[in-house]
Amino acid sequence: MRVLLVTGKGGVGKTTVSAATAVRAADLGYRTLVMSTDPAHSLADAFQLEFGDAPTQVTPQLSAQQINSQQRLEESWGEVRDALTDLFDWSGLKGIEAEELTVFPGMEEIFSLVSVRDHVRSGEYDVIVVDCAPTAETLRLLSLPEVLSWYMEKMFPIGRRVAKVVRPMLSKVTSMPVADDKVFEAVARFYERLDGIREILVDPEVTSARLVMNPEKMVIAEARRTYTYLGLFGYAVDAAIVNRVLPETVTDPYFARWREIQKEHMASVEEGFADVAIRELRLFGEEMVGIDRLRTVGQELFADEDPAARLSEGRPFRIEDVNDDVVFIVTVPFAERGDVDVMRHGNELVVTVGPYRRSIILPDSLARRHVRRAQLVEGELRITFSLAP
Ligand SMILES: Nc1ncnc2c1ncn2[C@@H]1O[C@H](COP(=O)(O)OP(=O)(O)O)[C@@H](O)[C@H]1O
Ligand SMILES: [Mg+2]
Repeated sequence: MRVLLVTGKGGVGKTTVSAATAVRAADLGYRTLVMSTDPAHSLADAFQLEFGDAPTQVTPQLSAQQINSQQRLEESWGEVRDALTDLFDWSGLKGIEAEELTVFPGMEEIFSLVSVRDHVRSGEYDVIVVDCAPTAETLRLLSLPEVLSWYMEKMFPIGRRVAKVVRPMLSKVTSMPVADDKVFEAVARFYERLDGIREILVDPEVTSARLVMNPEKMVIAEARRTYTYLGLFGYAVDAAIVNRVLPETVTDPYFARWREIQKEHMASVEEGFADVAIRELRLFGEEMVGIDRLRTVGQELFADEDPAARLSEGRPFRIEDVNDDVVFIVTVPFAERGDVDVMRHGNELVVTVGPYRRSIILPDSLARRHVRRAQLVEGELRITFSLAP
């Protein structure tokens, strides 16, 4: 059972890559589902077919689904939202503003992940390809269970047991509609629905994330940030897919400079994604829509490779808290002491091992800390960050 999360900035080719991956997997005999969680549903456009909220069969081995996340949200969150609206009402916040605050950005998408889990549990598919919402949304979505518990604690600061005691007092002195048991029960049910999702998504044997990008400066920068945050939240990225690379067959001088620029950007992709497989996909001469063209894309992208396999097993970094310090740990196999050089430029960490250079965008939480020391311990580079310089 494999789950492939395909993400990247808007317009880079996520939907095309997702659909092509799914067609290729199905052609190889895997029972495959491709589903879109991006509210800008273009999966149907890619296949030039109509898809609904339930899986629709495309070929005997391939089904496609466009989740109606708004509707799913309503089913699970409706109850909780009504209570929150009352609370905001009481505080003087009305109408649309209050409503906006009861649903935080990216929240709808969590319900698509509920479907992913249910499909995994059903055993109906061998491969599930998820065409995710653009970068930022997906990041929030993937950390949602944690964010959500933080949010609930802020909204309902008094725990359920305390609430039982405090609620009658509060109701007397104020007219505040303190969350009653019904809300807590609704929240509990909501949590139950999310049960098991994270376990599936952080298991590298099951789930791999693939970052789609174009050989363009800003697009790569955003992909690198996403890479860092996926790593931080424990999700395994196995490939960087660089789409719209100018093919060698284009000899028109108009594109000569473009090809040079793309080459330079490919070098930065190699440094930034040194731990994962890098695959290139050429810019085709036409829009690659419809199952036949998607099949071509899938064949060119994977050639003899199994699209469902883990394309790399690298783990870019991990983070440990040691007292007040944070230790950022990077694996540097084969490095001898003296071989390794660590440099930091702003929020970027550059590690040079012999002839190899790799760079990692630091998470914001580390960016405000200072590097205190770097040690090489059993093939791992341990970089200690402290608050004090
Ligand atoms: N390598 C490529 N060559 C030619 N057209 C492409 C290529 N990749 C994507 N496209 C086209 O670009 C448009 C946007 O791609 P899409 O996959 O929908 O991007 P995203 O899902 O990231 O927003 C689509 O019309 C698609 O057919
Ligand atoms: Mg898309």
